[in-house]
Amino acid sequence: MKAATTTTTDRIPGPRPGEAGADAESAHRELFRLNRSRLDSRLLARVEEIEKGWILPLIDSVEAAGEPVPDRAAWQRLLDGLLAEEREPSPAGTYLADEATREEFTLVVREFALDGLTEAQNFFPAVPRLPIKSQMAVMRVLIDEFGCGNLQQAHSQLYRLLLAELGLPTEPEHFVDTTADETFQFLNVFYWLTQRAPHVEYFLGALAYLEASIPDAFTYQARACERLGIAHGRYYTEHLHIDTFHMQEMQLAIKEYEAAHGLDPARLWTGARLLSGLIGGAFDAAVARARELAGGAVA
Ligand SMILES: [Fe+2]
Ligand SMILES: [Fe+2]
Repeated sequence: MKAATTTTTDRIPGPRPGEAGADAESAHRELFRLNRSRLDSRLLARVEEIEKGWILPLIDSVEAAGEPVPDRAAWQRLLDGLLAEEREPSPAGTYLADEATREEFTLVVREFALDGLTEAQNFFPAVPRLPIKSQMAVMRVLIDEFGCGNLQQAHSQLYRLLLAELGLPTEPEHFVDTTADETFQFLNVFYWLTQRAPHVEYFLGALAYLEASIPDAFTYQARACERLGIAHGRYYTEHLHIDTFHMQEMQLAIKEYEAAHGLDPARLWTGARLLSGLIGGAFDAAVARARELAGGAVA
């Protein structure tokens, strides 16, 4: 996976000292715990406080740097350009695919365990915000993510099998203390996009980007699994296959949204660039950290 040169990786701030949400060492970890909790009014206020110091300035910075997007076709062209840039081999991805040791690869798998084990759960709150024909397209994606109700096909279960093979725990709570802020940002952004973002087009643009980018991005991990003789690499190879359909469903979801409500395509582009920056930053940081930590104990 590659953070494209036009994305926001370098600009993505965490809450900085003195900003709202910056009083804890890791506001992003706290936010993730809150996002997975039942929120009363006090806890929701804390969520909003952290998000105010993090995601709102981030959205502003992405929007300020964005080019004009007059219509859906222009958004599609911009997205295609971003995906083409990201298809260029990245140093982190190439290292992981071709050189990483099993221990380094295991550390990267551990880093994304909270994502793999909770995959797509945080997309559901977007559904009631969409017109019915968009809902159907998004639901077809979600049904696949949950294995059409078959545990053995559920993406989270595929990740669980991979974790087990690598000798790691298989439940999310084991990873909260070891996951890095860059990864928490990528996780937390979907809770905001689906529940608190003022416009659901940000979510549509973000998920359309994510589904379109994964068939290329996961080739690195798939290659690493093959090279290292890891039997449960299907989590990655399944995505190479199924996300080519999911990207089409998200295009349809957006088309139907436009037909029902009209569309601000600039918000789609903001969502895409936001996700590109967050996931690219998380991946690069995860590989770098794995290389630093390798040789030490994998908890
Ligand atoms: Fe998936
Ligand atoms: Fe998908």
